[in-house]
Amino acid sequence: MLQQRTIEVIKSTVPVLQVHGEAITSRFYEMLFQKHPELLNIFNHANQKKGRQQAALANAVYAAAANIDKLESIIPVVKGIAHKHRSLGVKPEHYPVVGENLLLAIKDVLGDAATDEIIKAWAEAYGVIADVFIGIERTMYENAGWEDFKPFVVTRKVIESSVITSFYLEPQDKMPLPKYKPGQYVSVKMDIEGQENTHIRQYSLSDAPGKRSYRISVKKESGRDTLDGMVSVYLHDSVKEGDILHLSAPAGDFYLNTDSEKHVVLMSGGVGLTPLVSMLKTVASEQPEREITFIHAAINGQTHALKNEVLEIAEASDHITTHFVYESPLDGDHGYSKTGYIDQAWLKDILPLKDDAEYYFCGPIPFMKAIYTALQELNVPKENIHFEFFGPASDLEKERIKS
Ligand SMILES: Cc1cc2nc3c(=O)[nH]c(=O)nc-3n(C[C@H](O)[C@H](O)[C@H](O)COP(=O)(O)OP(=O)(O)OC[C@H]3O[C@@H](n4cnc5c(N)ncnc54)[C@H](O)[C@@H]3O)c2cc1C
Ligand code: HEM
Repeated sequence: MLQQRTIEVIKSTVPVLQVHGEAITSRFYEMLFQKHPELLNIFNHANQKKGRQQAALANAVYAAAANIDKLESIIPVVKGIAHKHRSLGVKPEHYPVVGENLLLAIKDVLGDAATDEIIKAWAEAYGVIADVFIGIERTMYENAGWEDFKPFVVTRKVIESSVITSFYLEPQDKMPLPKYKPGQYVSVKMDIEGQENTHIRQYSLSDAPGKRSYRISVKKESGRDTLDGMVSVYLHDSVKEGDILHLSAPAGDFYLNTDSEKHVVLMSGGVGLTPLVSMLKTVASEQPEREITFIHAAINGQTHALKNEVLEIAEASDHITTHFVYESPLDGDHGYSKTGYIDQAWLKDILPLKDDAEYYFCGPIPFMKAIYTALQELNVPKENIHFEFFGPASDLEKERIKS
């Protein structure tokens, strides 16, 4: 337990650290990677370079510190982060390393303003916060389907659209696969020729659980004006059937509640459809009487992945309604219900808007913002809204989608 004086020091200094957030986190990562270059095998370099992830870790420490006398209130948030840590292979021995460098960075940036009393208080508070994470992650490691990263064989590679390709993955040891919750993801650790470090990325499992293989469906992140995405481009261009990928066990707190019988609305934009297709397939097979509305937004028919798979499931059921929205349909595109973007008025027309319907969604930032705002304006209770974002949570916080 922290002493009252320590709690007071922490609470009074949180705003100061937040003001210097950027300077502290930049210095923190600089020192961390200089002294522990092996950690470059875990952290996402693109996020680092774009400054996206820079603030997330330190900001979460400050947010936890602001709640230091009622840490139980942030447990749900800690669990979400802990899922990602577990899937990346963050271990208890990493915590003191992060803590030490965060404190050194605070001292460096604040100079004399960081008195011994302040540094000592932060060291104690960080220890308490780290213990909460370590405890939750320990349980997650114990319950994970397997330890660390395990080799999987790419048994099939299937083109799903002009930008999305699926990879079917069977464990090399042929052991049965643990069941996952529809909506969860795996981390893939790639050793790419010519690269000094390994690169880890998350991919949602896009099939229903309970099969002999896992399936991930990956969008190739490349364009004329952007740098090629490291892992997705390698998966598309270089990984072949028969190759080995290393996966950590399924993780994530965005999953369908299959104990509920409530009407479920599944909404996706672009490659964000992967967890929603897993949910659709699971409900269709395990809860065939449950009402589903499946809405998917794509740029056009060429980029629309898994369309036939979704339609086949919907056609076999009286309880599934589908709506496809194309931003700019091509000549010859058919079977879509709306052109342009999803908006509140259209959602109001087509959604059940029953008080007890559950809403799940995933997609790019503008999509997330539009859906979240529309659901709020339509008075959908917060507890019925569930979402995943394929980037750092801090990007959503900036858009006020996540508080
Ligand atoms: C929970 C979760 C589930 C996910 N599920 C899926 C899924 O099912 N399918 C899927 O396709 N993706 C999914 N993702 C996204 C996936 O993890 C990767 O982020 C995605 O594949 C891009 O990785 P990459 O290595 O190809 O690109 P990166 O190399 O990470 O680059 C990402 C972007 O940053 C840009 N960039 C790179 N370097 C720089 C730089 N120096 N300066 C500026 N910009 C730069 C690139 O142009 C690219 O657009 C998921 C993510 C999460 C968190
Ligand atoms: C109490 C200490 C810590 C806190 C509060 C914390 C917080 C966070 C947060 C908020 C995220 C972003 C999650 C998301 O976007 O979904 C994150 C991601 C991450 N954390 Fe931690 N973290 C802590 C300790 C650690 C440690 C000890 C390590 C290992 C060295 C670590 C490694 C990572 C990595 C690799 C990511 C993903 C970042 C990326 O790929 O860009 N964290 N953490």
